[in-house]
Amino acid sequence: MTKTSRYAGIGGHHSNRPQTVEWLTPPSIIAALGPFDLDPCAPVDQPYPTAARTFTRRENGLLQRWEGRVRLNPPYTNGEIEKWLGRMGEHGCGSALIFARTETEAFFRHVWERASALLFMRGRINFHLPDGRRADGNAGAPTVLCAYGMHDADVLAACEIDGQFVPLRFPRSVLVAVLADATWMEIVREAVASAGADGPVRVADIWDVVRTDPKAAGKEHARAKVRQVLQRGAGMSIGRDQWIPA
Ligand SMILES: C[S@@+](CC[C@H](N)C(=O)[O-])C[C@H]1O[C@@H](n2cnc3c(N)ncnc32)[C@H](O)[C@@H]1O
Repeated sequence: MTKTSRYAGIGGHHSNRPQTVEWLTPPSIIAALGPFDLDPCAPVDQPYPTAARTFTRRENGLLQRWEGRVRLNPPYTNGEIEKWLGRMGEHGCGSALIFARTETEAFFRHVWERASALLFMRGRINFHLPDGRRADGNAGAPTVLCAYGMHDADVLAACEIDGQFVPLRFPRSVLVAVLADATWMEIVREAVASAGADGPVRVADIWDVVRTDPKAAGKEHARAKVRQVLQRGAGMSIGRDQWIPA
């Protein structure tokens, strides 16, 4: 078997006997979402950095203490992903890159139940090889970025990675602040009015208005609050940059 054909079988992620677990995150994704404090499952010989600190199989990242903003692209061996995602859900701060196997028990338990927001990536990515080269074959399946915590949700919402952003939840503290603060509803209502459209209104356009409003200036979690007000007002989910009125 040639080296090329070995790696061309990246769909082996989905087989019961994957040939390697060394499928590295493309540097462009790390650049778009970073910097990160920790990669708990990194190759022993890293061709490029993924986080300020790394654990490899030598230290066994599952047995170590996780601190700070974590980035996770876990080993795809059967039975392993669940452990890593469980740990990510408990940690609650960072982003995971995984296959969008949305129907699985692991996805339900550790992503749908725990993540703050998702970004379903357009097309299929090409992972990188242990020597740093881009693999010839694509991942063979759709990938999703999963944000844990509001900071990572905001990073996903604002990043340049092409795909569909799906907010899942907002911290109770933000909801309480929104509900207690009538000015947020007022600000958003003014912004929608000044967008002046009868049809769909882009959240990005509303945000452009809101961020110049002196009442919104310097407010923590302003983006999250705006999205929450829109979501509450519309009674429906909104995407990254589009709000379609009911
Ligand atoms: C899919 S690769 C991802 C590598 C890297 N996190 C990235 O995103 O580029 C999974 C990595 O986990 C490493 N690994 C496997 N078991 C591990 C363990 N128990 N502790 C730490 N790393 C482990 C593998 O050597 C491999 O480099």
